[in-house]
Amino acid sequence: MKIINGMKVYVEPSYEEMSTLAARLVGAQIRLEPNSVLGLATGGTPVGMYKELVRMHKEEGLDFSKITTFNLDEYYPLSRESDQSYYYYMTDHLFSHVNINKDQIHIPNGEAKEVELECINYEKKIQKAGGIDLQVLGIGNNGHIGFNEPEESFAKRTHLVDLVEDTIQANSRFFDSIDDVPKQALSMGIGSIIKAKKIVLLANGSHKAKIIAETIYGDVRPQVPSTILQFHPDVTFVLDAEAAAELKKYIK
Ligand code: F6R
Repeated sequence: MKIINGMKVYVEPSYEEMSTLAARLVGAQIRLEPNSVLGLATGGTPVGMYKELVRMHKEEGLDFSKITTFNLDEYYPLSRESDQSYYYYMTDHLFSHVNINKDQIHIPNGEAKEVELECINYEKKIQKAGGIDLQVLGIGNNGHIGFNEPEESFAKRTHLVDLVEDTIQANSRFFDSIDDVPKQALSMGIGSIIKAKKIVLLANGSHKAKIIAETIYGDVRPQVPSTILQFHPDVTFVLDAEAAAELKKYIK
């Protein structure tokens, strides 16, 4: 582990090892504070971490019974029953395999009629739960965290986002065709994310190498939303060697 710009950076040889380490960090949080509030991400990156957390639950008794969760985002509009929804993803990869209390799970409602109200209520629920203790993040190729796309200013709270072409393109791999990818999403804002006490960001693959280096070393600016993490007091990057490749230039 190296400390770079005040942030912890772990570089693991493979995706599997990256996933195991990320699961250990989340597992440690759960063991130390069994009633933790976790912020969770979806996408391809954390699949291995969820698999390992499920194993830790089944084989090591990792107890989710007092855990509360808030997911970062959900496509809009999309029914939670759709097998492309993040609700479905979370059920499939984690929630149906562990002893989490279903009342303690929160995911923005991709079918909400009153979007504004849904966003305000989501924030209220996070506040009422006492804020997020540990937030898990992935990262988009363009530096989005949650679905906070590059903008002229940092989005503060949960809001409706227009997904940019790059994100629609990247996420089309999970859909039958690119036309099926929703063009919008509900996402926690940058302000909501950086209020988390701890943040763990996962990234793997050579396609993430450039954005990881920029996130850690680049100027902090809303055009690369992930750079805001440089201002957070407790961020841990868990990377595989490919995603860390561009850091070599900087690590002595
Ligand atoms: C998902 C999310 C997104 C993803 C990002 C990376 O809940 O908030 O920011 O983390 O798009 O996605 P993958 O892991 O598929 O490369």
